[in-house]
Amino acid sequence: MELPRVAVVTGANRGLGRATAMALARRGFCVVLTYRGDRLEAEGVVRSIRELGGEAFPIRLDVADTASIDRFADELLAEVGRRWSAGGIDVLVNNAGIGLFAGLHEATVEQFDALFATNVRGPFFLTRALARRMGDGGRVVNISTSLTRHVSAGTSLYAASKSALETLTRSLAVELGPSGIRVNCIAPGPTATDFNGGAMRDDANLRETLAGATALGRVGEPEEIADAVAALASGDLRWVTAERIEVSGGSLL
Ligand SMILES: NC(=O)c1ccc[n+]([C@@H]2O[C@H](COP(=O)([O-])OP(=O)(O)OC[C@H]3O[C@@H](n4cnc5c(N)ncnc54)[C@H](OP(=O)(O)O)[C@@H]3O)[C@@H](O)[C@H]2O)c1
Repeated sequence: MELPRVAVVTGANRGLGRATAMALARRGFCVVLTYRGDRLEAEGVVRSIRELGGEAFPIRLDVADTASIDRFADELLAEVGRRWSAGGIDVLVNNAGIGLFAGLHEATVEQFDALFATNVRGPFFLTRALARRMGDGGRVVNISTSLTRHVSAGTSLYAASKSALETLTRSLAVELGPSGIRVNCIAPGPTATDFNGGAMRDDANLRETLAGATALGRVGEPEEIADAVAALASGDLRWVTAERIEVSGGSLL
């Protein structure tokens, strides 16, 4: 009997994480979706996946709460075994992240710490906890940003946290390669979600400005990022590791 393929997506109650959970479910993955606060929202995503004929369950995780991560991993593995008779997981998508934007003279220590706790420390310790439960062929996909390639005022801390995540991607690809685990990152350009107060979705002026600076002439939609993540998680890209793949429609080239 073929065992189910299991994917874990962090921050999957909304935005890119939700779209990624749906994209992976469409490709036959059983999906564990994590949420931080809004269980009802996460249950809505589970319902949408079941309507597609897929399988999913939600589990709470605050990725910035490092002390909870090993306990989370144990709980997750127990539930995956109970529901799907799976002994481990196949794909981890480190999607959960925050964007705090402030210039050099405005940024606070609290913002600095929150960005690095969520965008760097969380993915590092979660990857450590779950890589132990991945077999040969495991995949980790980290979600970075196009802002590590092009710079603008006020983005330094956010971009630096994602640059650190990109460096982790390459280093962990080396460490986990001998176990047959691939580690890559997807770097989305501006995408229409709640991110940054929903500006890329709701602010017509900003959308127009960004569209004018993008080869394909508009901002991205969550499904367009999610399909790229799912492609990286698929067997078709099995010889790709340690890569940063930008998915931005050619933003600020
Ligand atoms: N949208 C863009 O333009 C864009 C561009 C480049 C990169 N990205 C990256 O893409 C990822 C997803 O962003 P998005 O656009 O989907 O943003 P979003 O709509 O704001 O969603 C962010 C998700 O991350 C979760 N999250 C935040 N902090 C968390 C924590 N400490 N523990 C667990 N979950 C946490 C949120 O949970 P709650 O619902 O509980 O807050 C939410 O599910 C982020 O890493 C972001 O940096 C986004």
